[in-house]
Amino acid sequence: MACSFLILYLLLSLTSGETDWPHQSFWTGNWQPPHLSLSETGETDTGYIFIGVRKSNKAGNAPTIFDNHGDLVWHGPQRENLDFKMQKLFGQDVITYWDAEPDVRVLGYGATHILDSTYKEIYTVTLRDDFRTPSGKDFDSFIDGHEHYITPQNTMLVSALNFTQTDTSHLRRGTVNMWVLDSLFYEIDIKTNKVLFKWDALSHIPISNSSIAVKGGKELHEAWDAYHINSVTSAKYGYLVNFRHIRSIFYINKDGSVRWQLSGDNNNHGDFESKNVTFAWQHDVRIHNETDESLALTLYNNAAMDNEDPGPSTGLAIHVDLVNKKAWIIYELTDPTDHIVSATQGSFQVLSSLRPAHMLVGCGSIPKLKEYDGDGNVVLRGQFGKDTFSANAYRIFKFPWSATPHWDPAVFVNHTTSYTIDLYMSWNGATGYNNWAIFSIPSRTSTLLEGRLLLVHERTGFETHVPLENIDARFIIAVARDGERILGQSSIVELGQINSVCPVIP
Ligand SMILES: *[C@@H]1O[C@H](CO)[C@@H](O)[C@H](O)[C@H]1NC(C)=O
Ligand SMILES: *[C@@H]1O[C@H](CO)[C@@H](O)[C@H](O)[C@H]1NC(C)=O
Ligand SMILES: *[C@@H]1O[C@H](CO)[C@@H](O)[C@H](O)[C@H]1NC(C)=O
Ligand SMILES: *[C@@H]1O[C@H](CO)[C@@H](O)[C@H](O)[C@H]1NC(C)=O
Ligand SMILES: *[C@@H]1O[C@H](CO)[C@@H](O)[C@H](O)[C@H]1NC(C)=O
Repeated sequence: MACSFLILYLLLSLTSGETDWPHQSFWTGNWQPPHLSLSETGETDTGYIFIGVRKSNKAGNAPTIFDNHGDLVWHGPQRENLDFKMQKLFGQDVITYWDAEPDVRVLGYGATHILDSTYKEIYTVTLRDDFRTPSGKDFDSFIDGHEHYITPQNTMLVSALNFTQTDTSHLRRGTVNMWVLDSLFYEIDIKTNKVLFKWDALSHIPISNSSIAVKGGKELHEAWDAYHINSVTSAKYGYLVNFRHIRSIFYINKDGSVRWQLSGDNNNHGDFESKNVTFAWQHDVRIHNETDESLALTLYNNAAMDNEDPGPSTGLAIHVDLVNKKAWIIYELTDPTDHIVSATQGSFQVLSSLRPAHMLVGCGSIPKLKEYDGDGNVVLRGQFGKDTFSANAYRIFKFPWSATPHWDPAVFVNHTTSYTIDLYMSWNGATGYNNWAIFSIPSRTSTLLEGRLLLVHERTGFETHVPLENIDARFIIAVARDGERILGQSSIVELGQINSVCPVIP
């Protein structure tokens, strides 16, 4: 009989000061993702949950993958990051995220990292051009945090910002040489970083279309953010671009001209007529089922700015009739038990594994996610921070990710008592293994081929704990397996002496 010292480790611990939302910590590495609390109320899509965690406890700010139980799967580099997602590149599933050098006024100037299913960085997308920055500093790459979309042609669409001057004297409080923030997007060749297409808002959209009042603009660093680009996607005849601050979605032709504008303003819908399409401060606009006659748009409708508007923030699907120039709402997703007012960020994803398709809504500045079934019922609610001034994520997604890391599994050994050794094992990023096999090997220079199987233990979440008692082994290797198939193995771990006599428990 084993001597059982049942030691319960509290995985959830509180951070000091920064936030009182619990985060997780582990023995096998310094990963500290926020605790993801999930509550299922129906059948859910099988994918993994992708959250680019921001503004959490410092060690938890990272592109992070969770499973449907809220267990950590991958903790990426600990850095402020945005727009973490899975995309297809040359037919392969890759993950992409943006990180940056900070600067004042903007999110930062950065690059987009593309990782394959072993987490090797296969491409780094960068952008150089003649940008004016608030600090006056030059940066290695000028990509903005809002968009990093891989097109079916294996190019990437990225957003960018430039500080420039223009004449706004025709507007109330405007001046002749006002500093404004111009919104740009680029199409970039991923292998060479060559710019294939470049477009900017100021040259194509009247600045008077802005929904926000003219403000600042005397100095560069207080430039008026009249457009605020936050999503770009490819479309049949060009690009679909969203501008939060003009409350409008623009279809841009390949020659750069504006094909049409759909506005969420009740009084002026741009090129369309509509009875019920209303949206404001919107994010993550995507195009579906595009033909020459019609298309559908999905977006996250924040309906709130600096908490001035009442919300609710919703997931919105819009039908656009291109022949009759009419638009109407197909459905609007809310959570009847939870009135969300999200002032910034947010996402809306149509999921892929179930029919009819489920929808995943990321609530932006409110650190919550909602999954809806095909009838618009909430089937999953998730939260990873407090409602105010806590962790958040620009976008949240679910993807059927499958990965085998290029690094080895990690093992932590603790001589808890002289009778027990606690083994902790994890393999950051691995999706495919379901058990650990512990092999004893004769020496520090042996290989697994000389190993003797000591025990098999099922995978329990991100980190698996196995107490070893009365075991005659000095060197071990921990092997991550799918059934009996070996997927990865740890380096050789030296155990200390374990006494073989059970202590008397008083
Ligand atoms: C940015 O604005 C400056 C003027 O402030 C201009 O000289 C420069 O060409 C602009 N850059 C881009 C990429 O549009
Ligand atoms: C955008 O500006 C143009 C030119 O001033 C105007 O005709 C149009 O109605 C505006 N559109 C919206 C949606 O505000
Ligand atoms: C696209 O078309 C398919 C097939 O008609 C439909 O099931 C789906 O809901 C449409 N997508 C959107 C976003 O409307
Ligand atoms: C919006 O209008 C369309 C067409 O008139 C209608 O079918 C739909 O039910 C309306 N949706 C909402 C949410 O009002
Ligand atoms: C080993 O386990 C003991 C008893 O649970 C614990 O107090 C100690 O912190 C652990 N040691 C290390 C290095 O984590």
